[in-house]
Amino acid sequence: MGEFSIAYLPGDGVGPEVVGQARRVLDAVGEKFGHRFEGRTALVGACSIERHGREITDEVIDLSKSSHAVLLGACGVPGGEAVNGRHPERAVLDLREEMELWANIRPLRLSKHLLGSSPVKREIVEGADLLVFRELTGGIYFAEPKGRGEVDGEPAAFDTLLYRESEIRRIVERAFEHAEKRRGLVTSVDKMNVLESSRFWREVAEDVAAGHPDIDFHSMLVDAFAMRLIISPRDFDVVVTGNMFGDIITDEMSVLAGSLGLMPSASLGDGGVGLYEPIHGSAPDIAGQNVANPLGTILSAAMLLELSLGLPEEARAVEDAVEAALAKGYRTADIMEDETSLRVGTAGMGDAVIAELIS
Ligand code: IPM
Ligand code: MN
Repeated sequence: MGEFSIAYLPGDGVGPEVVGQARRVLDAVGEKFGHRFEGRTALVGACSIERHGREITDEVIDLSKSSHAVLLGACGVPGGEAVNGRHPERAVLDLREEMELWANIRPLRLSKHLLGSSPVKREIVEGADLLVFRELTGGIYFAEPKGRGEVDGEPAAFDTLLYRESEIRRIVERAFEHAEKRRGLVTSVDKMNVLESSRFWREVAEDVAAGHPDIDFHSMLVDAFAMRLIISPRDFDVVVTGNMFGDIITDEMSVLAGSLGLMPSASLGDGGVGLYEPIHGSAPDIAGQNVANPLGTILSAAMLLELSLGLPEEARAVEDAVEAALAKGYRTADIMEDETSLRVGTAGMGDAVIAELIS
């Protein structure tokens, strides 16, 4: 029976609603399995800018680093705009960087009860099961220099896309480690026909692959991958890629699941402390209306239990409860099917999952 500290960072928009439900689920797990989860809540994103003048304060970074795990909602305001001249999303980037969370893990596990809610045909999505490893603290998101300037007297802006060998090697290695426990297939995604950094990425990935002869390894160009992911998702098992390609292809992947609101993620570094968040954003257009789907955050909490707290049985219990709630027909607005569905709000979906968990 463990004691664990969890930092809750609800953030903006729908963040507080979805994190609220995931926290209730974690508390129910604590009751059922006899663990003590000590939760501490703090501001990040636009709400932190308004209160403290910064996207995230040093205290919140310290709180996050000193907890066993962090559960985050979302940061941002409508249209990705700045707030008092600052970008709320910076909070997430700072956390990833400060906590040195270089591996972002985004699974696609389809519920058999939701095969009808994807716009992609059932016979294409059925049986798809992917695990994407997105490099998270390098590449064009972080490399310097970046900034504004002038080119030939004209205003211009630039970012740098740079990868060090060690950054590529560790994320590709981690992808291979997970592939050993799955179908044994790794696809590395790059743009080597154009980008020097991608040619280097491919070389390093091939070198890592040479150390894992039992794994079936392929590299693919990101544009071709983007198409194949939709027309033939069962071709893939473990996918590994850089920061920006990983951002884009995982939103695309969510289409297969039926809703962005269903997608969880984990961000890990060398140690066990991790950051868990749904891959969706703050969705300000539906915030405060009790309609957001909390399942992406609840499934992120399941990943938290397994990967940071070392509680796989508890993680499976949460995943099974989600599946059971879906089997009974509970649906938030984003995954509504037909008149047989039981329409619930954010809190109602939390209730449905908890009822299954404690039954
Ligand atoms: C994500 C988000 C973030 C990213 C933003 C909010 C900085 O889109 O986690 O996918 O681009 O990484
Ligand atoms: Mn994204």
